[in-house]
Amino acid sequence: MLDLSVRIGQVELQNPVMPASGAFSTEYASVIDINRLGALVAKTVSRNFRAGNPPPRAAEVEGGMINSIGLPTKGLQYFLDAQLPDYKQYSPPLVASISAEDADDFQAMARDINVPGVDVIEINISCPTRKPGGGNFALHAEHAHDIVTRVRAETDKPIWAKLSPNAGEIVDVAMAAEDAGADALTVANTILAMKINVNTFRPALGNKIGGMSGPAVKPIVLRMVYQISKAVSVPIIGCGGISNAEDVIEYMLAGASAVEIGYVNFRNPTAMISIINGLEDWCNKRGIRRIADLTGAVRDGDMETDTYVAAAQGF
Ligand SMILES: Cc1cc2nc3c(=O)[nH]c(=O)nc-3n(C[C@H](O)[C@H](O)[C@H](O)COP(=O)(O)O)c2cc1C
Repeated sequence: MLDLSVRIGQVELQNPVMPASGAFSTEYASVIDINRLGALVAKTVSRNFRAGNPPPRAAEVEGGMINSIGLPTKGLQYFLDAQLPDYKQYSPPLVASISAEDADDFQAMARDINVPGVDVIEINISCPTRKPGGGNFALHAEHAHDIVTRVRAETDKPIWAKLSPNAGEIVDVAMAAEDAGADALTVANTILAMKINVNTFRPALGNKIGGMSGPAVKPIVLRMVYQISKAVSVPIIGCGGISNAEDVIEYMLAGASAVEIGYVNFRNPTAMISIINGLEDWCNKRGIRRIADLTGAVRDGDMETDTYVAAAQGF
């Protein structure tokens, strides 16, 4: 009997497949059985209403999309009053995602969202279109350490820190988040990117610059998951460019315990269910009984891999 379950610290998931924040809502219930997902990850919420960035907010590019949605939200109170009960109709654990403009508000947000029904708090310290110290705290290890420490002080719930692929030294940021008490690391948010319309000479996004996601980013983020998994002992949730079951397996081999899926949901809203079915088939065909055994199972023990540090080090 195949066991697809995985553990992220204290949280048990029936399978490793979750939606990524911002790429999911309960409206998916009209096309998929939401109860089959490993967990439900809500759109990032911040304290007050935010309109988000100027349109256009998304543009297609080869191998994915770039977006600059700008974290629109109806605010924390709306999340607690309306969205939380809506999510709790479903059985998978609920991961609430929070963001804030400054460190004090991040801490207060953690306190205010520390309510029954929220099973995990994912801290979005990595929105690419926010300033360092103004929402994007994952660019520097000391900023990430400060936010995770403050959130940790407010809650006993599991904290997943969502890291930024735009950090110069993402491994240092990962270690800082672990040191400050994160229970898991979500790797990663979107990669800063741009598109220009060659007919109008205008940037395709209203914010000019946005974050890239989709299949083209997978090898980049996979490399980050691999490097981080060598440096930390908390579980890692791989997130970037997953579009099929083999992509999930690849992330798990690199060191991820579970995954979050964004872009492909926009292309095919039933994709996450196909991926869960695909994982079952993949494991059954190979006689793998426990999918959790694949985490970190890449066979690289006999290989030298030191050259990757060159790009990050000075002369
Ligand atoms: C339209 C869109 C909206 C997003 N909104 C959020 C968000 O609110 N919070 C967050 O943490 N990440 C957000 N993300 C990033 C995704 O959660 C994910 O980290 C990223 O897209 C990489 O995964 P993918 O390649 O599977 O899309 C958003 C991504 C997209 C494409």
